[in-house]
Amino acid sequence: MFTLKKESGFDQVGSYDQDTINGFDEQLINQMLKLVDPERVENVLDAMAGDGNLSKRLHQYCLTHQIRCPKLFVLEYSSVQAEFARKKLSDAKAEVIWGDVLTMSSRDSQISIPENSFDRVMIKSSNHEIPRSRQLDLYSSIYRVLQPGGIFVNLGMLFDDPEERDELRGIARVKDTFANMKDVADNRHFLTKEELYGWLTEAGFVDIQSEQSFNYNINSSIVAQQYFAENERIRSDLEHQAAQAKAHKMRLNGRIHFDRDTSLMVCPGEITIARKPISK
Ligand SMILES: C[S@@+](CC[C@H](N)C(=O)[O-])C[C@H]1O[C@@H](n2cnc3c(N)ncnc32)[C@H](O)[C@@H]1O
Repeated sequence: MFTLKKESGFDQVGSYDQDTINGFDEQLINQMLKLVDPERVENVLDAMAGDGNLSKRLHQYCLTHQIRCPKLFVLEYSSVQAEFARKKLSDAKAEVIWGDVLTMSSRDSQISIPENSFDRVMIKSSNHEIPRSRQLDLYSSIYRVLQPGGIFVNLGMLFDDPEERDELRGIARVKDTFANMKDVADNRHFLTKEELYGWLTEAGFVDIQSEQSFNYNINSSIVAQQYFAENERIRSDLEHQAAQAKAHKMRLNGRIHFDRDTSLMVCPGEITIARKPISK
């Protein structure tokens, strides 16, 4: 069973750059921000926000396009990452909550987010951190805090093939173990499209659709640099690549390429949107 722990693996990892690890370009993030449509909304929640990089980009997007920035709320489970977010967003007047997306409350119980609070909830590269047994709770929780008519914008890995997904799960477990992120290694659940669309529907969402398909391009040397301790880096990197070498279906489908001492892993991703209906 999933239990809340005092420490989180994302306390352990410290400062890191999620988008660089995943090989994202600026166009992809801009596409996500366009879908959030900041010009038309008042309140936006960046849930499972890490160091607040997406909210920072949203704020910059508004400045560049000379539009009024909506009020930004940033929710993050790791106290270390929440502190990074506070610093990163000091100019953006964002409210940073050190909290749990499953309860939509702060971990010190001072804040509980009321229902119907936001026009938009956005999540980038994070829904796979929630264990399978709590996935429906995640989307129900997002549904609850969205206003009727509000939109959930999710950017994440999404597999058609459960066999490939299971292989990635095995690779990630090795990487997270060597990165000393035990809770992450235990909890992670990468999703198939069937699962995500099914759980969103069950939570009450309508108009669920893919807005963009793209690839995660994960380079092993960047993973090693960002996640593994220096004195263990080469050994951990080799174990990570050894796990990739065993992923038969992913290799067969051209998702893992080895070159000299590095690898490139290509995983399917999607920006998905879903709407909370105006009336039930
Ligand atoms: C892979 S990181 C991505 C962070 C950020 N969205 C980004 O793209 O850089 C996943 C984040 O989800 C956070 N997280 C995990 N479980 C959470 C929960 N129950 N509530 C809130 N945040 C959570 C982790 O602490 C971590 O910072």
